[in-house]
Amino acid sequence: MTTGSLVERAEKLREAFLAEHANVRDERSVSGIESLRLSYLGRKGTVTALLEGLRDCSKEERPLAGKAINILKQFVEGEIKSLQEQGEEWSLAAKLAEKPLDISLPVDSLVRSGGLHPVTLVRRELLAEFRKLGFTVYDGPEIDFDRYNFTSLNMPSEHPARDMQDTFYVAGSDNLLLRTHTSNIQIHCMLNEKPPLRIVAPGRVFRKDSDPTHTPMFHQIEAFVVDRNITFAHMKGVIDTFMKGVFGSNMKTRLRPSFFPFVEPGAELDLQCVQCSGKGCRLCKMTGWLEVGGCGMIHPNVFEAVEYDSEVYSGFAFGFGIDRMAMLKYKLEDLRQMFEGDYEFLGHFPLHT
Ligand code: FA5
Repeated sequence: MTTGSLVERAEKLREAFLAEHANVRDERSVSGIESLRLSYLGRKGTVTALLEGLRDCSKEERPLAGKAINILKQFVEGEIKSLQEQGEEWSLAAKLAEKPLDISLPVDSLVRSGGLHPVTLVRRELLAEFRKLGFTVYDGPEIDFDRYNFTSLNMPSEHPARDMQDTFYVAGSDNLLLRTHTSNIQIHCMLNEKPPLRIVAPGRVFRKDSDPTHTPMFHQIEAFVVDRNITFAHMKGVIDTFMKGVFGSNMKTRLRPSFFPFVEPGAELDLQCVQCSGKGCRLCKMTGWLEVGGCGMIHPNVFEAVEYDSEVYSGFAFGFGIDRMAMLKYKLEDLRQMFEGDYEFLGHFPLHT
């Protein structure tokens, strides 16, 4: 083979390559790039065949022909490499076109910025249950006088029961305090209203307490009924119906004799453990029961303080922690988490009950 024909063939091959290259590029054909590479540079490729043709050249002609073919080979290699780079972009673009990328924020996370606190969710649920039983919601002050929080509730000054509720007093006053329980609402309500009463009173309360199951600010809900001929049996029936309404018809409640100065007789109110259904576990300290609040028949001294005739009227009251209920419902280990304002933690709760 002569140098002239090899150089010419190299030139023709370059033109043919350019035409095929243009096709592949116009069609953005990723598979076309590899076919092009094989047909020019592969073992049986045309450029490779041209190189092999050098063997038949004379010594004098070989350098010129070799140079022309090498220039062609380098050109083809360079063009293929740049096509391969473009090919990666074509593949990505094809993938994106197949499944459009949604870069918008999910609508739900925008709405979440106004989510409800677990205590609010549980309070709403409890109030809904009380409304079903015909109770009316009543409010009372968080900063209150001693006589509403203690004295009228049969806890005169120096009464040892006051020590059970470690109290925050307003600076400069031994008469004004942050209420330690929602039972103060009993007094405000009874002073303003006449029986019959069927009241539920939720609210914030304060005590000098802090450990995994006690916080200095927490929430209670108080319920009380005053009418003629109200008995302990009515109280037990209301408590049981209420708790079954909240936790389901299998929930069992238990009353244990206990002392609260504003009721007589008084009892601790226990729920069957929500975790083990009474079998005994770590949460209920193997007892099968969880203490959630107190209850009892309103003491005649309380009726006297609000000028109700205890010979005519009787009534019951019960109160429990809303936060403790939220803790049971959402299986939380540490009550204090609820008041740290941690967005991560709060983000776990549903928007609605
Ligand atoms: C009372 O506060 C009574 N007023 C309840 C009552 C009402 C009895 C009507 C009789 C008649 P006690 O101090 O036990 O009772 O508190 C009631 C509930 O509040 C407790 O069982 C617990 O669930 C919750 N609680 C008490 N202290 C804290 C605290 N520091 N943090 C969170 N929850 C608490």
